[in-house]
Amino acid sequence: MSTEDFPAEDLRTEDFRAAAHATADLVSDYLAELPARPVWQPMDDTARRALLDAPLPADGRPLAELVDTIGRDVLPHPMGNGNPRFFGWVNSAPAPAGVLATLAASAMNPSSAGGDHADVHLERAVVRWIAELVGFPHPAGGGLLTSGTSMATIVCLAAARNRAARRAGWDVREDGLAGLPPLVGYVTGETHSCVRKAAELLGLGSRHLRTVATGPDGRLDTADLRAAVERDRAAGLLPFLVVASAGTVGTGAVDAFGPIADLCAEQRLWLHVDGAYGAFGVLDPAIAHRYAGLERADSLALDPHKWLGVPVDCGCALVRDTEELRGTFSLVPSYLRDEAAGALGWFSEYGTEQTRPFRALKVWATIAHRGRAGIARDIARCTALARRLGELVEADPELELLAEVQTSIVAFRFRPAGLDETALDALNRELPVAVQRRGRVFVTGARLDGTEMLRACLLNAATTEADLELLLTEVGAAAHALRP
Ligand SMILES: Cc1ncc(COP(=O)(O)O)c(C=O)c1O
Repeated sequence: MSTEDFPAEDLRTEDFRAAAHATADLVSDYLAELPARPVWQPMDDTARRALLDAPLPADGRPLAELVDTIGRDVLPHPMGNGNPRFFGWVNSAPAPAGVLATLAASAMNPSSAGGDHADVHLERAVVRWIAELVGFPHPAGGGLLTSGTSMATIVCLAAARNRAARRAGWDVREDGLAGLPPLVGYVTGETHSCVRKAAELLGLGSRHLRTVATGPDGRLDTADLRAAVERDRAAGLLPFLVVASAGTVGTGAVDAFGPIADLCAEQRLWLHVDGAYGAFGVLDPAIAHRYAGLERADSLALDPHKWLGVPVDCGCALVRDTEELRGTFSLVPSYLRDEAAGALGWFSEYGTEQTRPFRALKVWATIAHRGRAGIARDIARCTALARRLGELVEADPELELLAEVQTSIVAFRFRPAGLDETALDALNRELPVAVQRRGRVFVTGARLDGTEMLRACLLNAATTEADLELLLTEVGAAAHALRP
C-alpha cells in the first residue's frame, strides 16, 4: 500500500462532538443519580465476565457505540466513593471541576516534563498553590505533582537518603549504598505502608526503619525517638530520617511537629511529613493548632486526590531545599537538551518520571472552582461531621470509640456485652464487608494496636448527619445479622 492509499481518518469532528455531548450527559446523569443508588454492590457474574473476558476487537467501533458501552457496562458498577455515604479507606468523591478538566487535559495530551507550554507553567502554579494552602515554604521548583503519595514519598526519601549519604562522604548516585553504614529512619506503628515500601525500594532496608512508641493519642513519642536515635548513633549507624504524620490512615492522628522538628534540627535528621490524607486539615481553624510546626519539615507528601477531591491520580511532593531534589534526580540526556525548559529545567529532573501526565489542569480547576474559602469550608464540615460521629458512637452502648477524633477519621468497634476479646475481634473483622454488601453505606476496617476496628473517613462535605446515623444503624444491623 502506498502512503496515498492509506485510509482517510474516519474520525470526523462532528462524530467527536456528538459523542462528547453524549458523554457529558452520561456523566452528568451518573453524578446526579449517585446519592440515590446503592453505595456499592458486588458485580454479578455476567457483568463481571463481560469486562474480564472482553475479546480483543478485530475492527473498530464508532465512538457513539463506545459511549453506550461505558453507560451500560462500566458506570453502573462504581467503587462507591462518589456517594456521600461512602466512608471507606481515603477515597473522595470527584470534584466536578476536576472531572471536566480531565477531558480538556487529555485532549491536549502533553508530556508535562518541561518546556514552554501551558501545562508546565500551570503545574508550577498549582504546586505553589498547594504549598500555600497547607502553609509549607515553597522555593521555586520545590515540588512536583506525582501519581500519589506513594510516589511522592519515594521522591522525598530519595532526596533525604542522598543528603545523608553525602554528609557521610558518600555519593549514592555514583557508588550505590554498599559499604555505607546503614542509614536509619524512624516511624511509628501507624506510619503508612508506603514509607516502608519506599525504604525497601531505595535500598535502605525495612530492618533499618525503627518503630518509635506513640502516646495514648496515637502521636509519636519524642522521648522514645530521642532514645532510639542515640542508641543507633552509639552503635555506629547513621540516623537520617524521621517520618511524622499529618493524619494517620488508621485514626487521623497528627503528630506534634514542633518538638519533632526541634529534635531533627538538633540531630541533623531529615523530617518528612506524610500528609497524604490529612495535610489539608490545617485549613480548618478548629484543628489548625494540631499542625503547628508542619512548615519546618524538610519534605511533605500529600494527596490532592484525597481530601481536595481532585480526580485520581494526583499526589504532590514538596521539598524545602530544591537543590536536594534536583541533585537527586537530575539527568538530562542530550536528546532532551532544551533551552525552553528555563532555569528550573525539566520536572523530570526532580522526580522519577520522564513523560508525565497533565495533572495540573484538574488541580487548577478544583481549587479555582472552590477557592481557598470554599475548600476550607468543606474541610471544616468534614471534621465537624467526624466529631459528631464520634459523639454518636460514644452515646451508643453497643459501640466503642477507639481513638480521639483529631481530624476526620473515626475509629470505633462494635462491642456488645458478653463477648470476649477474641470474639469481638472476629466480629469486627467480618463487619465491614457485611456492611458494604448491604449497599446502604460503605465503611472499611483495620487493626489498631492489635484490635480489629472499623474506621469511617469523612471526606465528603455533602454527607449529612442523617447519613452518620444510617452508618451506625447499618453497623448495628449487620453485626446482629452476623451474630443473631
Ligand atoms: C496516610 C497515608 N499515607 C500514604 C498513603 C498512600 O497514598 P497513595 O495511595 O496516594 O499512594 C495513603 C493512602 O491512603 C495514606 O492514607
